[in-house]
Amino acid sequence: MKLYFITSNRNKYEEVKNFLERHGIKVEWINQRYVEIQAENLEDVVRYAIERINVENSFIEDSGLFIKALNGFPGVYSSYVYKTLGLNGILKLLEGIENREAYFVSVIGLKYKSDVKIFKGIVEGYISKEIRGSKGFGFDPIFIPKGYDKTFAEDYELKNRISHRVKALEKMIKYVKLLEE
Ligand code: IMP
Repeated sequence: MKLYFITSNRNKYEEVKNFLERHGIKVEWINQRYVEIQAENLEDVVRYAIERINVENSFIEDSGLFIKALNGFPGVYSSYVYKTLGLNGILKLLEGIENREAYFVSVIGLKYKSDVKIFKGIVEGYISKEIRGSKGFGFDPIFIPKGYDKTFAEDYELKNRISHRVKALEKMIKYVKLLEE
């Protein structure tokens, strides 16, 4: 079985490809951007885009970091905030704030056998007090998953077992494998 992954983010592609190939699904990379509407949740962004993509057996993935003390910010604006405020900007916003709870959300939109399906994965955790680790990408160096004490950038193997993305991918795998039977 082969699926096309449409993304302009090489890190995401690598993560997704490694995980899916371990589950017997081949992945071909389409290095391309897609239209991202301004919406208040990732599901709407993903649904709008995947419904307009004319590639059979393809999927896209959109993700975000939601910080509880900031009422979910940066959320759907994660990419812009990463580029503008950066990791240090987020740490600054949380200076003096006790509650450091946050979660990552990953939403996948799949076009498979002409149907569109949405899959969502969440990983809960905390924003660290400082930037730690060099693996992964994006907000990984400041995110510590619940129940652990290392950031995703310090323990990338752990990330690839429990991340928001892996959880959404697991749901997608279950779905496509059921349809293959
Ligand atoms: P997008 O899904 O490409 O729009 O990503 C939104 C923002 O969240 C980007 O700045 C990414 O760097 C960041 N991001 C997405 N996924 C992850 C992840 O797995 N770890 C850390 N940051 C992420």
